[in-house]
Amino acid sequence: MLFDRQEKNLRDKASTEYLLWLNELEPSLCADRIPSFRELNHRLWAGTGWSIEVVPGLIPVVDFFKLLARRRFCSSTWIRRPDQLDYLEEPDMFHDIFGHIPLLLNPTYADFMQKFGEIGMKYASDEQAVLKLQRLYWFTIEFGLIHERGQLRIYGAGIASSFGESNHIFDDDITVLPFDVEKVMETSFRSDVMQTEYFAIPSFESLYRSLDGVEEHLVNTQMESSGPATVEIR
Ligand SMILES: [Fe+2]
Repeated sequence: MLFDRQEKNLRDKASTEYLLWLNELEPSLCADRIPSFRELNHRLWAGTGWSIEVVPGLIPVVDFFKLLARRRFCSSTWIRRPDQLDYLEEPDMFHDIFGHIPLLLNPTYADFMQKFGEIGMKYASDEQAVLKLQRLYWFTIEFGLIHERGQLRIYGAGIASSFGESNHIFDDDITVLPFDVEKVMETSFRSDVMQTEYFAIPSFESLYRSLDGVEEHLVNTQMESSGPATVEIR
């Protein structure tokens, strides 16, 4: 039900790369059964060298960055109840796997995620820097949009795994801004409501290249008295 409904819903809304890799992951990822992490890992490993790391829930941000830098993506193993079909406070396995895993088979996106983790490791003890990286993660990996042949498409896992939000992005009162990595890092967000502002990238290559500007921005805006990070990412 969960898988079927969203897979059909995304056919004309998600990025062609996301749909390509979602399709490639079948039958390891399908409506008939809980996905086998062993099978998914086999395919991820063969494709881009990524694998899935099972975690109990939210983990310290430095550990999260370390795992990304080692090409490991965290996943929960719990799945939402029928009454939670459309809203969750914490990511479940459907979000983590259906939302995040397909694009990890795109080589450029896979490299982007790893490099993001490497930058995060360098700045994990600086709370202000982690906050900026959390915003970057939020507006790209979770809630990112992409322009494809004149159309707006979804690539962020938070939208791709949400029936409500994947339709909401086409509402009239939504603002879609051109992707600017510095602006993204200075834009706050709310995690308890659907977004009203999104950023759209022109391509995954440009998303990867935007990481060059991230460290520069972090260094330029570094606060003198930053303490250990307590910000949660995911
Ligand atoms: Fe996520």
